[in-house]
Amino acid sequence: MKDNKFLTLGIETSCDETAISVVADGREVLSNIISSQIDIFKNYGGVVPEIASRHHLENINGVLDAALKEADVTMDDIDLIGVTMGPGLVGALLMGVSTAKAVAYASGKPIVGVHHLNGHISANYIQHPELEPPFMALITSGGHTEIVQVDDYDKLTVLGGTRDDAVGECYDKVARVLGLGYPGGPKIDRIAKEGNPEAVHFKRVFLEKDSLDFSFSGLKTAVLNYLNSEKQAGREINRADVAASFQQAVMDVIVKKAMDACEIRNEKKLVLAGGVAANSKLRAMLDEECAKRKIALYYPAPVLCTDNGAMIACAAYYKYMKQGPDGLDMDAYPFLEL
Ligand code: KG4
Ligand code: ZN
Repeated sequence: MKDNKFLTLGIETSCDETAISVVADGREVLSNIISSQIDIFKNYGGVVPEIASRHHLENINGVLDAALKEADVTMDDIDLIGVTMGPGLVGALLMGVSTAKAVAYASGKPIVGVHHLNGHISANYIQHPELEPPFMALITSGGHTEIVQVDDYDKLTVLGGTRDDAVGECYDKVARVLGLGYPGGPKIDRIAKEGNPEAVHFKRVFLEKDSLDFSFSGLKTAVLNYLNSEKQAGREINRADVAASFQQAVMDVIVKKAMDACEIRNEKKLVLAGGVAANSKLRAMLDEECAKRKIALYYPAPVLCTDNGAMIACAAYYKYMKQGPDGLDMDAYPFLEL
């Protein structure tokens, strides 16, 4: 406690960001330190799990010190330690979980393990202080594409998800073949603004009628096939047109499914979460569709969309208030159901 506020330390290491934050009373960010490994993985075109774990190990103590310092607190002031326990890269997760356990043991503070996707959703509680469940959540990130009904802070039901690639993964792969670099999402987002979304028709995959599941692997292959055949025919590729056409095909599907989910459940609040929620096309299309249907749309600032410790601290706070602490025998889980 400091100034009568309940302080949560949030630790996130599930992929390539070593991120630690101090959050007061669940929603007020006092510090949010993010050490990204993007520059390292640019050279590889994607995340190399073993290298990610090593960098977490090298960075995590410094990030912890910086998070406490920026919040102007010490471990004595912290009331709760929250950490991402899954899903994610197991070696990377273990760095966060081991650190959290060590700090909890040494300080005698309680610990709570958080589901990474609940963390992404919780970024919205920080951004929108008035937001409370129930609502519909659309999670689109590098590892996940899911539609989740959120009935309470700890009551989440998955209504649909991807059957193959996650949408961010698809963005990253298409960007790589277009020679745009890693991570591809923001690059496609930017270059697509100069392209014609109707230049190339890529098939939209909606799956069975009423299904809220997704499939993006066919679209990814279609883009690769298109690029190969254009190359073989000796035609020059307009990267902006391909990026815009790919993005339109993705977003047509995602926006329709999100609207279907709200309609089926008669939900008037839609919350976006995950790295791809930073996408300007997704936001613009949903702004329009939600306005037509009188659905209130919520999304976090870009820095809270991608992986960060603040969202984990927020999710940990609410889990702790509802369910109490976890034991020090908690573990890291590469696959974890919501
Ligand atoms: O949530 P996140 O940081 O990590 C996971 O939990 O996966 O999401 C990272 C993903 C990457 O695939 C990245 O390319 C994508 O989010 N991304 C975007 C944008 N910004 C980040 N995708 C599309 N448009 C963006 N503006
Ligand atoms: Zn994430």
